Amino acid sequence: MGTTFLTAVRGRSGRLLHAAAAALTTPLLPADYLALFDPLLGGRWPAGRVESVRPETAEATTLVIRPGRGWGGFRAGQYVPVGVDIDGVLHWRTYSLSSAPGRPGEPFALTVKALPDGLVSGRLAQDTGPGTVLRLGPAQGDFTLPEPLPERTLFLTAGIGLTPVMSMLRALARRQGGRNASAGDVVLVHSAPDRAATVFGRELRVLSRRMPWLRVHLHHTRTSGRRLTPQRLSAVCPDWRERQTWTCGPGPMLDALRQHWHEQGPAVERRLHLERFRPALPAAASGAGAEDGLIRFQRTGVDVPAGAGVPLLRAGEAAGVAMPSGCRMGICFGCVASLVQGRVRDLRTGEITGEPGTLVQTCVCTAVGTVAVDL
Ligand code: FES
Repeated sequence: MGTTFLTAVRGRSGRLLHAAAAALTTPLLPADYLALFDPLLGGRWPAGRVESVRPETAEATTLVIRPGRGWGGFRAGQYVPVGVDIDGVLHWRTYSLSSAPGRPGEPFALTVKALPDGLVSGRLAQDTGPGTVLRLGPAQGDFTLPEPLPERTLFLTAGIGLTPVMSMLRALARRQGGRNASAGDVVLVHSAPDRAATVFGRELRVLSRRMPWLRVHLHHTRTSGRRLTPQRLSAVCPDWRERQTWTCGPGPMLDALRQHWHEQGPAVERRLHLERFRPALPAAASGAGAEDGLIRFQRTGVDVPAGAGVPLLRAGEAAGVAMPSGCRMGICFGCVASLVQGRVRDLRTGEITGEPGTLVQTCVCTAVGTVAVDL
């Protein structure tokens, strides 16, 4: 019976059925009921189903995921929030997409490395099989290539930091159509412990043979006995100062590169684009610019003093208000509420917004003076 119903919903007559169902099921949406049959049909909370799993190295795994309704696609180089159910608790993390963007609804790939203390990365990289359903947030990030492409590009990556760059390289390879076309002049310098620990190593070697516009330099720290420092970069890419550079890897490496580019002056520094894996967490409570005030949870009828720098989510929970939430880090949009009155400050950016009706992320927004939210 479920199959017949779902097939009907997909067809023309299904649209009429959908409209009628919407009237009957308000305030829930038909999609909420469809999600009971198949989580991928519930557009309110986009989800994806793991179609296949491919080991890349001993620690890194690629998951090919077919997204369901309501997921908006991505650009090469972006990352996506992923919600993983572990023992009944939804844990959110962000992961870079490793595939080239395809058509809407097409499967995409995430490549995840199991971190030593990583509850979610370990589950995804080592203990997730085909058929697993994962919640998805909207793809995010501006670590993407401009259009038109720069004449000369340098990708500088280490370890699993190659993932977003791999998405870009695959997109470029697909766009250029292969051997006789050009994506300008692209150099990839990638550092990994050794050949076995190099994600996408085989594909990189094939790409560099087939694409004349691409030059790949793989640096193996374990076998060479030394790290690839900014100072050694000139040996493998002498014109790095003139290239637009995209870099992704461990934090200390990015800090060293930022410093090195900074020392070359503003014109060179402007050509450096960095991607850090961990999003900045909301700032700790701070009195800077804060005002005393009140948070009114309109529907619940609860008033709470607006503590300086305290996220609305935490203030509401402390007062016993049922607050929707997810990642608590500003990535999943599982905590949004409509602002009825007043202004809020985004703790990540310091930006103040205050239009009635604005959807605010309560986990990363704090009250500026007196505010009312629709909760
Ligand atoms: S964005 Fe995830 S809980 Fe706020």
